[in-house]
Amino acid sequence: MERTLSIVKPDGVKKGLTGEVIGRFERAGLKVIGLKMSCLTKKEAEGFYAVHRERPFFQSLTSFMSSGPVVPMVIEGDGAIKKVRDIMGATNPKDAAPGTIRRDLAASIEENVVHGSDGPDTARFEIGYFFNSLEIKER
Ligand code: RTP
Ligand code: MG
Repeated sequence: MERTLSIVKPDGVKKGLTGEVIGRFERAGLKVIGLKMSCLTKKEAEGFYAVHRERPFFQSLTSFMSSGPVVPMVIEGDGAIKKVRDIMGATNPKDAAPGTIRRDLAASIEENVVHGSDGPDTARFEIGYFFNSLEIKER
């Protein structure tokens, strides 16, 4: 069993897509084992996306991620990291395959509805960024 962190980003929450995103994960056989709503400060968004701090889009990305409520969740399943990334689709909705969340629902490369950890080390760091052990339930 593998765990990963996904986030419904501020655009997804504003557009009422939280249930749709969770439903797509659940219908793929993945389990939600931790879930909350949170509002990131700019500093907290910068900490979360610290790997991107040298990128030209860092300021814009972290302003966007702190612009409204987000819904982080811990997802568990066989190959959960890749499964979540496949369900999300490519970063730019224009490049994302039909049937993926970003192709179907996202507005732009930045406002792309959903985040997913990109590997086991990032997943561990990102889960710990939002959830303590009491907030994650074995099922
Ligand atoms: P994420 O980390 O949010 O799951 O997205 P990702 O792996 O598909 O993409 P990544 O390269 O990690 O970029 C993180 C987020 O930064 C925004 N972005 N904007 N303006 C741009 O060129 C640009 N590139 C990336 C997106 O919100 C992207 O998801
Ligand atoms: Mg990423």
